[in-house]
Formats: sequence, structure tokens, C-alpha cells
Amino acid sequence: MRQYEEQIEKLLSQMTLDEKIGQLTQMGANVLYGDIFEANTDYIKRGEIGSFIVGCTPTQLNELQRIAVEESRLGIPLLFAKDVIHGYRTIFPIPIAESCTWDMNLAEKSAYAAAKEASASGLHWTFSPMVDIARDSRWGRIAEGAGEDTYLQCRIAEAKVKGYQGDDIADRDRLIACAKHFVAYGAAIGGRDYNSVDMSLETLYEIYLPPFQAAIDAGAESVMTAFHDFNGVPCTGNEYLLKTVLRENMGFDGVVISDSCSVRELVVHRMARDEAEAAKYSITAGTDVEMHTTTYRENLKKLCENGEIDVRIVDDAVRRVLSLKFRKGLFDNPYVDETREKKEVFTAENLDLALKIAQDSIVLLKNENQSLPLAKNIKKILVAGALAYSKEDMLGCWAACGKAEECISIYEGIKNRFAECEIYKAEDIDDAVIKAAACDAVIAVVGETRDMSGEAKSRASQKLSKEQSLLLSALSHTGKTLITIVVAGRPLVLTEEEKLCSSMIMAWHLGTQAGNALANILAGDVSPSGKLTTTFPSADGQTHMYYNHNNTGKPARDDFFATSKYIDAPIKPLYPFGYGLSYTTFSYNNLKINNKDLRVGEKLYGSVEITNTGDFDGAEVVQLYISQLYARKVRPVRELKWFNKVFIRKGETIKVEFELDTSTFGYYNSSAGYVNDGEMFKITLSPSSEGGLEDIINLIK
Ligand code: BGC
Repeated sequence: MRQYEEQIEKLLSQMTLDEKIGQLTQMGANVLYGDIFEANTDYIKRGEIGSFIVGCTPTQLNELQRIAVEESRLGIPLLFAKDVIHGYRTIFPIPIAESCTWDMNLAEKSAYAAAKEASASGLHWTFSPMVDIARDSRWGRIAEGAGEDTYLQCRIAEAKVKGYQGDDIADRDRLIACAKHFVAYGAAIGGRDYNSVDMSLETLYEIYLPPFQAAIDAGAESVMTAFHDFNGVPCTGNEYLLKTVLRENMGFDGVVISDSCSVRELVVHRMARDEAEAAKYSITAGTDVEMHTTTYRENLKKLCENGEIDVRIVDDAVRRVLSLKFRKGLFDNPYVDETREKKEVFTAENLDLALKIAQDSIVLLKNENQSLPLAKNIKKILVAGALAYSKEDMLGCWAACGKAEECISIYEGIKNRFAECEIYKAEDIDDAVIKAAACDAVIAVVGETRDMSGEAKSRASQKLSKEQSLLLSALSHTGKTLITIVVAGRPLVLTEEEKLCSSMIMAWHLGTQAGNALANILAGDVSPSGKLTTTFPSADGQTHMYYNHNNTGKPARDDFFATSKYIDAPIKPLYPFGYGLSYTTFSYNNLKINNKDLRVGEKLYGSVEITNTGDFDGAEVVQLYISQLYARKVRPVRELKWFNKVFIRKGETIKVEFELDTSTFGYYNSSAGYVNDGEMFKITLSPSSEGGLEDIINLIK
């Protein structure tokens, strides 16, 4: 018998239809939705709200809970949810930044730290991780995921779910995770948020579903639907996606929650003629809980009573919600200890972790003449550009309870770290040019403010503002060493700006410790080790370029006109997926594959030697790609299948061993069945998605 089955069935048998529908209703408890108590008390008393998405204090949450537990007929506790995406009050780097660490241990630790803080404040459920693959940097929500690669996103999905949920969601420090947005949301046409997705099932299965499967296999207790229509059917009312794919094929048996108001949006999509139809389509498709709107509350009862919906569909959804509440331990322990928040939120331990992750998220894009780290005898530094002084923008999108005043700006971080130097600010471009003349180093900070990426922040152009480009151009003419720091929530087009500076650092939105992390990198206390998880386009028209594109019949070449390329942009992106420099250098040698002839499903074993050939200790992300040389279906030029981040002292050589399961070397055919041809594969070990050491293996079916 499944855990708590008896209690669940007993409760269900006592519930009225209104109370059942209440469990499927999630409301907002937040100043945005009026007075929290006035708006909700009566509903809670009647058992007509099952959970809240909140912006409340622990005292308010306890009071809402008290009403549910003590004043509703059956005393069913509430679940409290929030978007805790990259930290709760201690803000970690935005997800795309953190993915550049390629460090799964850190990804898990930041999720755990966020869970500890959020649960100490009374929360039970986070709407994270977002595991949407993003191959188009026009889409603003590229900031919220791990970038363009499926394999990497799978590993991060697992790490995040483990970090939030631990081994038992009943632990007081853990949150229920939610993999979102099901599915293929990142493939919105034109990169415009909320737009349609029109996609082959092969691409769905091969590229977009695996991260959800990884999250589910790691135990994710909930999945959120998405706003868009998938091949014409809105995801929240998409029976094929939610029933056939998610439940039947992927084996998910947890709670499916709609995205905010997306049940009601079936009317706006014009799939449903009214809210009653929207409720009917959503619940029958498999959306258990409705977030923010009340179409279930207002329509499901009647639909059940007049036979349009089988009440057993409602019962099953309620069972899943009750099971989550039992397993979270809410029936035993519904309240949060209000003293915890003070002790467990924004701790020194979490700030140290935030610093470490921010340092490791930074990607060094260019370092001509080793202009970084800054020389030890440096005396005067100019820090220019409005983003350098901003605390708020360091938070990035979805900063939960993060506070701008608690963030270290880049300027402050530099002042702290270079306490013996004179650090100058600049009012405007003219002022920057004048002050640069007297300085030994000039640091310019450009990019995006925090409200330029995230939800509903699609951009047609990824270029810097005119003002920012002018600043860089003016500073480049001063003859001083120019160091450019780019702050952003997405890859930007930096082709012209890159030429103007000696060094360029991609700093994303790094969270609470942004300034300190950057200063430590500038000083050389830490060598940069981040590697890009998205392609950086060289022109706006390349914003939907990704490394694992298919082979074509006319591969891009500069010396022949009829090849797959743009006539007004380079063939290659500015920086490829997997790219990132260090203050040291690494050389790859002696790639050895132990078993070059093997059967599908057997493990491939091998090793490569990496030498730190420079003057700094440093970490390298060793990447392994496969390319199927011949297949019945056109395959990607390369696919990441393994990686390992290793720390190597200067002068040292280490042997990195790999072990790969060849059953994942296949692909989906047109009926979305998994096929493993068995063929020749090229195996490449490399520091990025370009170049590297290669060997060939024979995989036999
Ligand atoms: C977003 C979700 C988020 C939800 C609740 C929606 O607009 O798409 O990612 O979890 O709001 O805040």
C-alpha cells in the first residue's frame, strides 16, 4: 500500500466536492492581491483554498495555517509556495550564471541553502528548477535555466531537485521542487515569450524532455505547465503532453500545477469558449492545481454534477495534493517556528557559498597580453559605467526576498579588495575619459539591468545600448588598459566592443556577493573557471545559433557561396558553447580509449591527460562530445555527453578518466521511439565545443 493511502482515502471520503476543489485551488497571498486575511479567511474556513503562492511573513503564514487547521471543517493544512529561484534572501547567481560553474556540487548546495532559508521563513514549495532548454538568446527566460545543452541541463536538474528536496521532503530544511515549464517553452517562435511552439516530436523527445525526466528521476514532486501552445494545443490543456507523455511515458505521479493564470488563458488562446470549458479542458488534460485564478473553484462542481467531468478525475488530483501534504509532514507539523528566520536566513555560511559560486560563475572571455589579473603595484583604478554602482541590478530576475541594499556592487567590491588603491567613479563619458588619464587601470561595466531579462523580457537585439558602446569606445582611445565587465541575464552581441578592450569578463547577475566575487577575480585571488553554457552570437541574426545543430548537406564555408550561413555575418559565433579562459593555460594530451569496439549499452572507458601549463593554479572543465559519423537520420555535429571540472596546480598533469553509458548514444525516430543504430562515433575531448583531441569508436548493435 502506498504511503498514507489509508489516511488519504479516509479524508477524501469525508470531503465535499467544494472542499475537494479547494485543494486544487492555489491563491496568491500577497499585498498585490489585497489584504491577505480579508481576501482569504472565509475561503480557508470553508476549505476552499489548498495552497498559496505567498509574499508573507512567518507570523502571517502561521495565522493563515491556523485558520485552515483549526477553523476549517477537516483541518487540512495549507501548502505555502514561492518562486525561490536562485536563493531566498541570500541571492546566488542567476541560473544561467551558475550553470557556467559546471559544478554540480555547487548547484546542489545553493539549492539546499535556498531551501534552508525559505523553509525557515515558513515556505514548503518552490517553483524551481526551470529546466527549459534555451537555444535562442532573444528569449528573456534564458536567464532562468542552464542554457542550450540538454545533457548539462539534466545534470543540473538532478542537482537542484536533490538540493531542494534532500532524501525526505518532510525534513524541516527542505522544499518541494517543481520542474517547469512543461514543455519546450524555450522554443517560443522568434524568442518572444509566451509564443507558440511548433516542433517535431523527435526534437521534443531528444532535446526538451530529458531535463524533465532527469528531474522526475531525481524525485521532483511537482511539475508546472507552460503558457504557450505546443503544436497548437496550449500546454495547460494538452492531454497528449500531460497524460501520454508526462504521466504514461515519463512515469510522473506527482502534482501538476498550472502556470500562473494559464487555466483561464485557455479562453484567451480561444481553445475554450468560456472559463467553464477552460476548467474542463485543464483538469481532464491533467492539470491538478490551478494557480492564481479561480476557474476550477467556480466551475468544476457544476461540471461534475452535470456529468461533463467524471468526479474520479477530481478525486485523483486531490489524492496527489493530499499525498504531498502528508509526506511534507504538514498534518503533524503545520506551523513554522517563528524564531528560525532570524537565525537561519542570510547566514555567514550562505554568504560564503554565494561568494564561491559567484566567483566560479564568472567567464573570462578575453585576456590579451595577460592584462588580468591586475598588477600588484597598481595604484589608481577607474570604475566606470552605471551598472558598476548598482546594487539592485546584481540581484537579477526573480530575487525572492533578496534586498538590493544587501548586495555588494562591483564598485564596492573593488573598493573593499583594493583598499590600498585610489578608486574613482565617473559621472558620465567625458568624466570617465578625464579620470582614465590619471589611472593605471580602467574598468568599464556594461550590459543589462536586472529588468532586461527574465519573464516577458524578450529582446529583438542583444546589443549594448548606444551610451554603453560610446563609453567603451571613448575609453579605448585613452590608451589605457581597458577591462570590460559585462553584466547581463543573457548572451549579448559583443563583437565590436570586444575589439576595444584588453580583457572582457562575462559577469551575468551574480547576486548578493557580486562585487566581492568580481574583485577577487580581478585581483587574481581566484583564477576564472567558468565556461559558457550558451553560444554568444557575433550578430543579432545569430541569436538562435547553438552548437549542437544538425549536419547539413552544405556545411558552412567561407570559400564557397552555396553553404549554410549568413552573407553579412561570420560563420562562427563570437564565443562558442563551452568556452571560457583562465589565468593559466591547459594542454590536452594522450587521449586513450580502452575499448574502441563495443556493443550498444556497454560502457566506454578512456582517459585524457591535462597539464596546467601556465603560472596559476586553476580549474578546467573537461568536456566530452560525441558525433555519430553515419546514421539513418541526420545527427548533430556534436553532442555533449560527459564533463568533469578538475582543479590542477600549476605545472601539474593529471589523468582524467571517463566512463560513458553508450545506451544514450541513440536518437528518436519519427514515431518518437528511441533508436541506437550502432555505428562509428567520433569521441572528442576538448576545452569547449570547438577543437579538441579525437578518436573513433565502433559501436555494434
Ligand atoms: C511564471 C512561473 C512562476 C509563476 C509564479 C509565472 O508567470 O511563468 O515561472 O513560477 O509565474 O510566480
